[in-house]
Formats: sequence, structure tokens, C-alpha cells
Amino acid sequence: MHKTTLITGGAGYIGSHTTLTLIDAGRQVLVLDNLCNSCRESLARLEYLTRRRVDFIEGDIRDSRLLDDIFSRYDIDAVVHFAGLKSVEESVRKPLDYYANNVVGTLNLCHAMARFEVFKLVFSSSATVYGAPRQIPLIEDLGAGKPINPYGRTKLLIEELLTDLCLSDPRWTIAVLRYFNPIGAHDSGLIGENPNGKPNNLLPCLTRVAMRQVPELMVYGSDYPTVDGTCVRDYVHVVDLADGHLRALRALQNTNGIHVWNLGTGIGHSVLQVIHSFEDITGITIPLRFAPRRDGDIAECWADPTKAGRELGWYAQRDLMQMIIDTWRWQMCNPHGYRSQPGLAASIALKQWV
Ligand code: NAD
Ligand code: WQD
Repeated sequence: MHKTTLITGGAGYIGSHTTLTLIDAGRQVLVLDNLCNSCRESLARLEYLTRRRVDFIEGDIRDSRLLDDIFSRYDIDAVVHFAGLKSVEESVRKPLDYYANNVVGTLNLCHAMARFEVFKLVFSSSATVYGAPRQIPLIEDLGAGKPINPYGRTKLLIEELLTDLCLSDPRWTIAVLRYFNPIGAHDSGLIGENPNGKPNNLLPCLTRVAMRQVPELMVYGSDYPTVDGTCVRDYVHVVDLADGHLRALRALQNTNGIHVWNLGTGIGHSVLQVIHSFEDITGITIPLRFAPRRDGDIAECWADPTKAGRELGWYAQRDLMQMIIDTWRWQMCNPHGYRSQPGLAASIALKQWV
């Protein structure tokens, strides 16, 4: 029997792209997701893309009995752990939900892994753990800073928990991947980001304006000490991120302890640069309005991805133009996300957009 990689949160945005990459690389996978921010349609589309059945269990990482059942029924040798809540704004309003889901959920998952002697884990962390940057670009060795919101603090707490686990038992082998700003979608136009409710991130907000679902884009802040006064971020293609997970899983075969890798391009783009690139690529004008700075935003944030290059052979392959093309294709094919239900055939026809 093949060893199985358990993917928590595998129906979500980054999880679905990573599931596809792992299946394409010949891995046997099992997705565990409670669908609180995703739906079965993403998995149906993965099955269409891979021509394979995707094993899926609907359930919660906080359910110990379910985890025991999964670990006893499947021959799991590694876990890629995406499951969690990710809205900064919501985490300020509902900190208990964030600590319970992200921290307690991860604790529960690690307990189950330890019970079944599964010691390889890839964890979705975030550049948010660096807090207000002391220097740019951000280097892993600087250590985490002081995250400025509950969401970021849950990620930092989990990183610390995982560090302590590795110190306690040398069998643990853990990759902590700090993503910068994931955008883009698979080039089929069939899977992509599907935010529930009102989005907060730049690209989903921008594409809604482009689709004329919202009249104008608010640009938060025009007086930052940056190239054009707007915030600078390191946008990274979700398919490149997915490849980073595959490489991290492979790296865990030959090492132990905890390893932290930045996954970013190393290139910063301002909000206005992103908007203007989008306009150039699609030919669509984006009405925008400058608004006051958004609470908690920092002026600039981008990665030094040298360590991932050196140790994983990972380099972001796709530039901002590709990220925008793929985001827009996904949006055109699925104007209301997975609820659009245009049918696979219609989606595939639209694939020829660029
Ligand atoms: P997402 O919401 O699309 O995916 C998360 C998935 O986890 C969803 O399918 C959700 O239904 C599931 N889930 C949540 N809580 C669960 C639970 N208790 N049990 C089982 N399933 C649960 O988010 P994403 O953008 O794909 O992010 C994946 C991971 O990467 C998250 O941990 C997030 O914090 C982290 N991350 C995301 C970003 C980003 O900007 N998207 C940046 C850095 C880090
Ligand atoms: C980017 C820039 C906004 C929307 C967040 C989380 C971080 C990580 C990635 C999970 C900022 C500006 C945005 C809009 C705008 N997630 N903006 N108008 O804040 O860098 O990172 O997502 O781990 O933890 O904090 O990304 O896409 O929200 O914002 O002007 O309508 O776009 O002010 O400067 P951010 P973002």
C-alpha cells in the first residue's frame, strides 16, 4: 500500500493547488477539511484535472476521535497542514475562534500524529509572524517579530509550539513555510481563490471592481514612504507555493528538526503598480479612490527567499504578469467563485482567454 500524505484544509485556496501538485507528483493524498471556508466543488475539479479520485473526509482537526480513526485507517507518513482561519480582520473580532481553530486545532493534530508516530509535518505559516519589519528584505534568521493581530499571534504561537516539539523529540521533522502574499490561480481556470463574504485582500477586491460587482477600489494610504506612496508587498503565485510544499515534503525525508523557509519572490510591488499592471494586461480601467491608511498595514514587506532557493531548490517561477493573468482567468471563468457553476465545459472553453 502507498504511503499517504494527509492534507488538512486541502479543499481551500492554497490547499487545493498543493493537492493537485502532490497528486501530479505521484503522491497518494487524503484531504481532511471541515469546509468552513471551502466547498466540495474544488475537490470535484481536482478530480477532473487529475483524472483521479481524491480521497476526502469532511471533518474538523479539533475532533480527536476522527483523527484517531483517520490515522488508524490510512498509512499516513506526513501531514501538510493548511487548516485554519485566516482573516486578520475577523481575528480581531473573534479571537477565541482563531485561537481555538488555529492553535488548539494544531495542538490536537500534533497529539494525534504523536500517538500514531507520524512525525513529518509541513505547516502553513505567514510573513505576518515578522510583525513590523526591522529590516527589509525579511530573512528567516532574524527570527519572528511581534505580530500585530490575533491571527498573526496564532501563527507565531504555533511556530513556537512546533519548535518545542522538535526540541522534545528528535523524530519530529517540521517545515514551517512563511508565505508572503499568495495570489494567482491554476492556469486551467478551474481552481482558484474563493473568499466567503466580503474579501479584504487586494486581488479579490480588485477583480470584483473589474467585474463591475463593486464600483471602485479603495486604495488604503497614499503617503507611505514607498515608491509611489502606496504599500509594497511580495505577491507570490499560488502554484509556485504549491511546488514549495512538494519540495519541503521531499526535504523532510533527509533531515530532522524544524526548518523555516520564506516563500516569496523577493520582489516588492506597490498597490498602484499592481493596479496599473492589471489595467495594462486586461485593458480594463479600475476606478479607484484613495482612502486613509488601513489599521495594521505596514509600508513595505518582501522576502529574502535565498534560503528556500539554497535548501529546497525553490525559486518562484511566475512573475506578477502571470499572477494577474491567472487570477483574471479564474475570475472570468467563475465570476461567483465555485458557486458560479458555469459547468466544466464552459470553464474549459474560457481557458483560451489568453
Ligand atoms: P482557505 O480558507 O482557502 O483554506 C483553509 C481551509 O481549511 C479551508 O478549506 C477551510 O474549510 C479549512 N479549515 C479551517 N478550519 C478547519 C478545521 N478546524 N478543520 C478542518 N478544516 C478546516 O485559506 P488559504 O488561503 O488556502 O490558507 C491556507 C493556510 O495558509 C491557512 O493556514 C492560512 O492561515 C495560511 N496562509 C494563508 C495566506 C493567504 O494570504 N491566503 C498567507 C499566509 C498563510
Ligand atoms: C495588500 C495591500 C492594503 C485591499 C494579508 C494578511 C497576511 C497574509 C496575506 C495570511 C495593503 C492594500 C488591500 C483593498 C488596498 N495572510 N489594499 N485596497 O495585508 O499584505 O496581508 O494577506 O497569512 O497575514 O495580513 O495583504 O492583500 O490585504 O493587502 O489598498 O481593497 O493592498 O492596504 O497595502 P496584506 P492584502
